[in-house]
Amino acid sequence: MSEDKEFIVVADSTDIELGQSVSLEVNGVQVLLCHTRDGIFAIEDQCTHANEPLCGGRIDGNLISCPVHGAIFDVRNGEVKGPPASIKLRTFALEIEGTSISIEKPEKILSTVPSLGPGSFPPRRA
Ligand code: FES
Repeated sequence: MSEDKEFIVVADSTDIELGQSVSLEVNGVQVLLCHTRDGIFAIEDQCTHANEPLCGGRIDGNLISCPVHGAIFDVRNGEVKGPPASIKLRTFALEIEGTSISIEKPEKILSTVPSLGPGSFPPRRA
């Protein structure tokens, strides 16, 4: 295990079949563990197009397609590979010891929508 990052045991690799994914909540963040031929990868289970879950999306190679509108993401690095999404997914480091999967503790992001507090608007002119 890394010394400077906190990892949390979240699953057993035998519970995620090849080509399947499992969604779970870790530290208030919904994470999707995806099992591809290249291994198991962790992405945020929230499509960046319209904030819908990616859980249930088809996994083809290292790509997952959003079940809602079909955006495609690379589960290894979160990069967008097909529209309509244009913003990459968050990914999370994993450590696998035997069949035990640990994930780097994800930081919860409260909102992707910019704050519109009082200081966000230009001052009103008289
Ligand atoms: S919500 Fe995923 S492509 Fe629209």
